[in-house]
Parts: sequence; structure tokens; C-alpha cells
Amino acid sequence: MADNAPESQETLSNLLQETRRFAPPAELAAAANITADAYEQAAADRLGFWEQAADRLTWSRKWDTTLEWNPPFAKWFVGGQLNVAYNCVDRHVEAGNGDKVAYYWEGEPEGDSRTITYADLQREVNRAANALQELGVRKGDRVAIYMPMIPELPISLLACARIGAIHSVVFGGFSASALQSRIEDADAKLVITADGGYRRGNPSALKPTVDEAVANTPNVEKVLVVRRTNQEIAVNDRDVFWEDVVAKQSDQHEAQPHDAEDPLYILYTSGTTGKPKGILHTTGGYLTQTAWTHHAVFDLKPETDIYWCTADIGWVTGHSYIVYGPLANGATSVIYEGTPDTPHRGRFWEIVQKYKVTILYTAPTAIRTFMKWGDDIPAKFDMSSLRVLGSVGEPINPEAYVWYREHIGASKTPVVDTWWQTETGAIMISPLPGISHAKPGAAMKPLPGIVADVVDDQGNSVPNGGGGFLVVKEPWPSMLRTIWGDDQRYIDTYWSRFENMYFPGDGAKKDEDGDLWLLGRVDDVMLVSGHNISTTEVESALVSHPKVAEAAVVGATDPVTGQAIVSFVILRGNAEESDDIGAELRNHVAKTLGPIAKPRQILVVPELPKTRSGKIMRRLLRDVAENRSIGDVTTLADSTVMNLISEKLPSAKSED
Ligand code: WT7
Repeated sequence: MADNAPESQETLSNLLQETRRFAPPAELAAAANITADAYEQAAADRLGFWEQAADRLTWSRKWDTTLEWNPPFAKWFVGGQLNVAYNCVDRHVEAGNGDKVAYYWEGEPEGDSRTITYADLQREVNRAANALQELGVRKGDRVAIYMPMIPELPISLLACARIGAIHSVVFGGFSASALQSRIEDADAKLVITADGGYRRGNPSALKPTVDEAVANTPNVEKVLVVRRTNQEIAVNDRDVFWEDVVAKQSDQHEAQPHDAEDPLYILYTSGTTGKPKGILHTTGGYLTQTAWTHHAVFDLKPETDIYWCTADIGWVTGHSYIVYGPLANGATSVIYEGTPDTPHRGRFWEIVQKYKVTILYTAPTAIRTFMKWGDDIPAKFDMSSLRVLGSVGEPINPEAYVWYREHIGASKTPVVDTWWQTETGAIMISPLPGISHAKPGAAMKPLPGIVADVVDDQGNSVPNGGGGFLVVKEPWPSMLRTIWGDDQRYIDTYWSRFENMYFPGDGAKKDEDGDLWLLGRVDDVMLVSGHNISTTEVESALVSHPKVAEAAVVGATDPVTGQAIVSFVILRGNAEESDDIGAELRNHVAKTLGPIAKPRQILVVPELPKTRSGKIMRRLLRDVAENRSIGDVTTLADSTVMNLISEKLPSAKSED
């Protein structure tokens, strides 16, 4: 190996230098929900800080103990009782806000929309709760939910929460076998689904997938079906229809209080490989942190804001920031059923214009796609209502951040880059829009009440300027409580790498000011000539070239350097693929990050392999880069992508 100097103690290189800063707009700062003293207050009394956040909710019985911590098992607000659905719905009606809109629902077919007030939502949730009880669902039972983005989806979640049944939402794009294994692992007795949903202009069936999955799950007693597309479906003995069972119910239902630590839901997270993990979230702590973070990070003003999170409710982002957080805060939200390019590539901006959306929360993968489509598309719409923009799901490349701020946020809105996971339940690291002098690409600081750090492989805190492993050092209210049915796997996966610290699996660095930058999954880190180089930094360097919209890099075995960097890039809509684009981009990376990070190869591709939630699957690109046959593609969103990339391969020659 080349210069693998043993004295090099770096855990993860810190290569990218970024000097742009964006101060909060004065007007926003002056009226911000959270001011800088929150950090000091939480640092001085962390549990007291979370008690205050919990006091924003309505409790039927106040808790006795704020935190019981038997590492790594936490219980928050022990002895407290509350009903999540009451907190998300009824209390707003009781406060006189029944006519306030909870959801503006926008179907994919144009003109297909519904407005649901808090009073409407209360009636619908009550009917659904009564129906679940009639179908034999009791507190603690598991209900699998496999639905498109229609109003009956949040209604189903809230109905489960109301009666204390544990929901397990399975994203509507998953296969029958994925659905079956999740139904089996949670031992669900009811499945809620729809005949289908609309995707890219066409009805797309869901019910046949459920039929296939439940053919092998005898413990499922009933399948409750919403008619959405009215497509023809097979009807089995187990099937009952929403319009028959739910519609006839009384719209009155008395919510019983549940213990703060009663389970609220299971949500399966696949990671990149292995059996999916059933992440278990409970009641009081989860609602406390989702509600507080939604209030703080988005500076939500429930009276005036129109908030839109573009995620699917099938992911944790939708659970926490379409359903529980916003509703607990009495927000008015937009829900959109479809994809951003149906019927045209300006659909998102048309929706922003139509509802005068003030807060938009989306993912880097979407932002990079919009960059690729071109600036002229958002420019056609009036988006002057926007005042806060958010990002979640992957590291946001600085260039994508700046594009988002400029072309969506009119160069004036703060952008909050929010780091968290299915496991953390709620946002953990993020700027606060009225306080932070944000840096493009940085998640900045742990929120008040969160104790996170970057450590080396021995678990020692790295100094400013250093890189390493992200850890969380103290329990937090919305943390996962375990992996459903598998405490040992919970311990092994999250609590064994470093003693008494939660390890999320991400790399990170602290800059000279101590601000945090996420560097991608540690499994993806590349070891080049003895240096640990993060995929994120090289990808961000590539995306900072004006011709590049999106990039993915992987380490491929190399006889000289151990691993060499192989890059896959998608060009921007207006960029020409020239013969020397490879050399141009390689030199650009060398100039931006230093020669050590110069890719060995650049492949221009039309698409990148992504999971259904939009994360780049570098594992498959490593197979390509190392000339292996391509591994397990079951979690790939679009199965044709790898063929498109492989076709590019003959030109994949080393350029040195
Ligand atoms: C993983 C969690 C959190 C809801 C959606 C994803 C990556 C997430 C960021 C961010 C850098 C991020 C991490 C994390 N991630 N947000 N702002 N910056 N990386 O939930 O599917 O459980 O994925 O997504 O790698 O561990 P998830």
C-alpha cells in the first residue's frame, strides 16, 4: 500500500471547506419560537427542559418520574398517561379550533382534493376507532397498514393510537414478500389497505399484493379495504370495506388514556441488508419530542403557517412530521398523493402556489432532481409564501442546499438540514431557523436537550476540525425503546460499538467552530492510501461542478491505493457530455478536496440506484465498480436502473 502512514490517526478525513454562511432573516429571528437561551437552559437542566416540552401536551395523569434509564433501556415520563389521538385532534376542537384545516389533501389526478378540518378529522378518527373495535382489535394488538397517501391513512394511524393498538405501516411500494415478513414479524391481526392509489398518472393496484401476502399469514383475521381507484379487485372472505364498516359507525368515541410507555407503533427499517428491524416507539416521549421539534425546527405558527412535508407516511418522516408532530401542534398541513413529475415537472411548485405553503420539508434526492430538471421550472410559480425550508434523509450537498435556498426560497428563506433516523423518532441535529447562522451542508448543532458528539474509534471526543463517528451520549424522549421482539439485536446494533453511547452508524465531522457535518454511513467510507474518505465529501465536490446534478461515489479495490474512488454522475439538464468531462471532473475534485480524493474513474449515468425512500444504494455501485455480478436488488425502487448503468460499462476504463 502507498503512504499508509501508521502515525495517521484520523478516523475520517475532513477535506471539504465551506465558507458560505446564511444569517437568519431579522423578522423571523425577532418572532422565533425558540431563542438562543434554550440551549443554555437545556444544558443546565436537560430533564427539566424535556418536562417543559412534555407540558405542551395534554396529560390525563401527570408522570411521576421523568426518566428511568437502565442502559440501554429508557422509560420516559413514567406513570404519566395520555391519549395521542386526543392530543392530535380532540383537544384542538375543544379549544375552539374545530373549523381550522388539519389537512389540505391533494390527490395526484388534478382537481382531486379534499379539505379536512380538525372537527372532520375528529369524526373520521372516531368512526375508524369504533370500526377497529368492532373488528375485534384491542389495545396492544398489531395492525398492519399498507396504503397510498390518502386521508384514510393518517386517519387509520390515529384510530389505532386512540384505542392503543400498535400500527405497523408498510410503505405502499413494497413487495408482497416484504409485506408478508413484516406482518409475520409483528403478528398483525388486521391489515388496512386500499384497492390502489395513483402513481405517475395511472391507478396502481395495492390489494393484489395484500392478497398475496396474507395468503400465507393465517393470523390476519380481516383485511379492511378503502376504495380509492375503484379498480376491479378480487374479494376474499377476510375482506371488509371501509365504506361498509367505517362509514356506518358513530362519530363519537371516548378516548382512553394510555401509559406514556405503551407502544404506539412499530416501523420496519431495512438498512441496506439483513432482516428488517421492527423499530418500536412508545407514547409520551415520542409525542413530546415530535411536537416540540416540529414547533422549534420549523418555527411553526399554527395560526398562519401552511406546512407541507413531501414524504410518504410509510416512512418515519411521514409518521413524525405529517401525522404526529404537526397535529399535536394544531398545524395546517398539505398532503400530496403523487409524484413530483405528474402531470408535469412543476407540480410541487403549483401546490406551493395553490395553498400558499409557508414551510416545506423535503429530501435531498428530490432537490437534486429539481436541479437536474432546471431552474426555469420553479421560476414559473409564485412561491413568495415560503419562509422556512427543510431537508432530511441524506447529507445535503452544499450546492444542492444553495440551489434550494435560491431557487425555491428566493434567496431569503433559512434552510434547516435535519439529521435523525427511524430509530431516533424525531429530529436530533439541526439548525434553528431564528438562531443559526447556517452553513450549507451542515446539520450544525444537536437540538437543545440532545447530547450528541463525534468520537474516534476508541470513543474519545474528537477535537474541532476532526472527523469520526456520530454518537448520542444521553437518552432522548423519542428514542426507539427496542427492536420488536429482539432486545439482543437492539443492544448489538446500537449500543455495542461504544460503551454507553448510542451509535447510529453515521460518520460526521466537527468543523473549526464545533458545528456538525454528516458524512454518510460509515459502511460506505472509502480507504484510499490509508485515508478514510467519506462518500459525502467527494459527492459534494462533484455536485459543486456546474455540470453535475447528482453524484454517487464508492471505493473499489485497487492494487496501488487499497481502494480507489469510482464516481457515478448525472449531469444537469443543460450540460453536454463532452469527451473530456471525466478529466474535467477529476481535476475539479482534486482542486476542491485535494489530490487524495481524486476519483480514479468517472462514469456518466442517466440514473442512480436508490431505495424506495430515495437513498443512493452504493452497495450496488460497488458491485459494478468491482465488476461483480450485482447483489440483492429487492430494496431498489426502480429495477431497470442497474441495466441502464451496466450498459454504460464498456466505457468504464481507468483514466490514469
Ligand atoms: C439515515 C436514517 C430521518 C428520516 C428519514 C430517514 C441519513 C437522514 C440526514 C441528514 C445526513 C441524513 C443518515 C441516517 N440521514 N437525515 N440531514 N444529513 N444524513 O430515516 O431511513 O431511518 O435513515 O438517513 O444516514 O442514519 P431512515
